[in-house]
Amino acid sequence: MSTDIKKSETRRDFIKKSALMGTGLVLAKPFNITAKPLLVADKVNVAVVGCGGRGRGVIFSNIPKIPGANLVAVCDVIESRREKAKNEFKKKFGVGVNSYEDFDEMLDKEKLDAVVLTTPDFWHMPHSVNAMERGLHVYCEKAMSNNIKDAKKMAQVMKKTGKLLQIGRQRRSNDRYRFTYQKLLQQEKMFGRLTHAIGQWNRSQIWTQQPRKEDNINLSRLQKYGFETVDQVYNWRNYKKLGGGVVSDLGSHQIDIFNWFFDAFPHTVYATGNNSYFGFEQADTMATILEYDTPSGKAIGIYENISNSRAIGVYERFIGDDGAFIITEGKGNKIYRESRVPAEKWQKYIDKGYLSNMGDLMAYKSKEQGDSGIKETAPQVSYDIKDMADMDKVYNMASHTAHLYNFIESVRENETLNYDAEESYKSEVCIYKIHEAINGGGAKIKIKASEYEV
Ligand SMILES: NC(=O)c1ccc[n+]([C@@H]2O[C@H](COP(=O)([O-])OP(=O)(O)OC[C@H]3O[C@@H](n4cnc5c(N)ncnc54)[C@H](O)[C@@H]3O)[C@@H](O)[C@H]2O)c1
Repeated sequence: MSTDIKKSETRRDFIKKSALMGTGLVLAKPFNITAKPLLVADKVNVAVVGCGGRGRGVIFSNIPKIPGANLVAVCDVIESRREKAKNEFKKKFGVGVNSYEDFDEMLDKEKLDAVVLTTPDFWHMPHSVNAMERGLHVYCEKAMSNNIKDAKKMAQVMKKTGKLLQIGRQRRSNDRYRFTYQKLLQQEKMFGRLTHAIGQWNRSQIWTQQPRKEDNINLSRLQKYGFETVDQVYNWRNYKKLGGGVVSDLGSHQIDIFNWFFDAFPHTVYATGNNSYFGFEQADTMATILEYDTPSGKAIGIYENISNSRAIGVYERFIGDDGAFIITEGKGNKIYRESRVPAEKWQKYIDKGYLSNMGDLMAYKSKEQGDSGIKETAPQVSYDIKDMADMDKVYNMASHTAHLYNFIESVRENETLNYDAEESYKSEVCIYKIHEAINGGGAKIKIKASEYEV
């Protein structure tokens, strides 16, 4: 154990020294990340654990775009998946990596600086704790776990060992979200007091996975890794002992944004849900109301997942006294000024380059002054977010890549984590309370401030 820690520290010391002595270490710059390749010795040696959907995203879409990351091994309990990842990586990038079934064996044999965990939720705690105690840094996909106790342990071990543990809620490294938080909310307080957050992530039946022939599943081998049936291997999210259902899987991304933008965590949750659509153990349809005391007053969050339709899509909306905004990972973001707020008050945001495309009220006025007799509520005036003007740092990358990039550069001591396990733990607490409320048949649950503490 101690030798692993030493190895890692030695490499980090080398990076620091070589930067000081100007021995050719090229630090990656967000806008120019591929300008000069880094030397292999300066890179962070990474292994990806879990070569399923997300793991393949990390291996083939994220790591190759991060100059400071060096993939050295992949691990998966399904042989066909790990071998496929290894062979494809060699074919695409000309780089050979080792493959492992067993996580511990990989840690024993490889000289790693960090692991990226893209396994089902119930494996996150044992693997991340094991890795940190052996001196490695960890990027762990959300959710931290499928229970509050394990999530807390992960945050505690991060603090105890001093290792980095970033949790994979990638919106935290998304430029648009960071810009909205840093500039529009914190600096400008543009929307006045934020009073409401409303979010949904809806997806349809297609999400349940069917066994794939090419996976060549050997169930008796997988049983020692906690999977009792073939369906558990594919649809682990829907089993209470393996995953967290839609609330953890989808809701946790967005409720985390409520908490971040409100600068607060709910003191009360009401939630209800059912599994009427898929009939699995976890609710596939849910709705929750979250009550906050934010630094500027009371606020309410309303959140829903629907499993039979994608119709209303994915979004987070925030409403404040002076305006509102809709934000998503994709396109379609918009900012609205209440028409009673004078345009001049917001002109400064256009002048600063934060906003563009000011709407006008003429269309509304002609409609309102027509003879239909129908009076509508005064519309809000819309703006677009402009290019992240005046922000401290812009990643300019797809957000999964940006979040992993932030982790890798933090290991290289060039950045600090955007979203460590202690911050994530607080959002996990309210997710588990929502589960509790749903499982209690639609209960109201109070959360004490002390429950958010690690
Ligand atoms: N941040 C995001 O946007 C995002 C998106 C998708 C998934 N995720 C998260 O990524 C994780 C993986 O999700 P997925 O959709 O890729 O699941 P998946 O089922 O497609 O892949 C999981 C892989 O882990 C392997 N595995 C299981 N137990 C293992 C063990 N003990 N050791 C090594 N390998 C093991 C499985 O064989 C499988 O190949 C989950 O925690 C999920 O919540 C995050």
